[in-house]
Amino acid sequence: MSYSLQLKDLWPSVRVGLLCEQKYGALINSFSSVDDVTQELELLNATDFVSEAPKKAQQGAATSPPLCASISSKVKCYTFPRGDITRFRPARPDALGLLDYYLMDAASLLPVLALNVQPDDFVLDLCAAPGGKTLALLQTGVCGHLAANDVSISRTKRLYQILHSYVPKEIRETVSVTSCDGRDWGQLEGGTFHKVLVDVPCTTDRHSVMEEENNIFHRRRTKERQMLPMLQLQLLMAGILATKPGGEVVYSTCSLSPLQNEYVIERAVEIAETQFNISIHVEDLSHFRTFFQDTFSFFSDCRLGELVLPHLTANFGPMYFCKLRRM
Ligand SMILES: C[S@@+](CC[C@H](N)C(=O)[O-])C[C@H]1O[C@@H](n2cnc3c(N)ncnc32)[C@H](O)[C@@H]1O
Repeated sequence: MSYSLQLKDLWPSVRVGLLCEQKYGALINSFSSVDDVTQELELLNATDFVSEAPKKAQQGAATSPPLCASISSKVKCYTFPRGDITRFRPARPDALGLLDYYLMDAASLLPVLALNVQPDDFVLDLCAAPGGKTLALLQTGVCGHLAANDVSISRTKRLYQILHSYVPKEIRETVSVTSCDGRDWGQLEGGTFHKVLVDVPCTTDRHSVMEEENNIFHRRRTKERQMLPMLQLQLLMAGILATKPGGEVVYSTCSLSPLQNEYVIERAVEIAETQFNISIHVEDLSHFRTFFQDTFSFFSDCRLGELVLPHLTANFGPMYFCKLRRM
């Protein structure tokens, strides 16, 4: 009922997308020495949507070179074309046991690309488990230091497993994994990071539509669900406080709900200003829509940030992401 008001004519199509099998992307593991994986994928007609997009955008219209350069060319993620629902084979290990790719919702890569990690940046992934985005951050190859945190001990174990399956020891040692309540982070290590990813717990709309188990819309979880925007706001505030002046925060959810998306951003900007005297600039990410329109369906009416809508021909998302700069 709520999403049909928000998305209007788009809702029936988004709803069908949510009810159908989602599409994956194969995040190439640059640390693995499995030969010819990209060649194998290209033979199947998959393409690396990250490197393809700026090329296409440059051919078509005047997109400024700095914006093109802001998309990390080191991260490679293969997807099948629109309408092609081929599944990827399971990942394979190389001689050292490192897997060749990580299957994820390709839209989950967009918040990582938006963070635009630069050489030697200190990066914080505040809600990191199970670790898909942490792995993508490491694939940029430039993080000076990466702090990956998640309050859940059991989910942090999954993060360790992913690091072990994909990342060589010498790189793993540059990652510090913690299990703190992210809401306290600003007080612990305030103003130290160049880039902070705040990928918050949310109503996980695709999961909630399909799975009975642990469903956030179950009556016994009503209070927890109602408190989500507050938790999200507190985590985003901690992320902002952990960032150096001039540094950047990307906030993301896999929900369509404006209460968990734009409203959280607006409240955080207001609180940063009034309670902490920190001025925040909400960055324009509309070039993402131009770059990646062939791969994803974007919602064109987002007040702040960008939202990938599920669609039968490109069944990724939902994924909301918004970038803030601490002035
Ligand atoms: C959307 S998931 C993160 C997914 C992860 N970034 C990835 O790409 O694999 C949200 C995470 O937030 C964690 N979380 C919930 N409350 C938290 C808190 N107060 N502090 C830190 N993490 C929290 C949950 O345990 C969950 O793993």
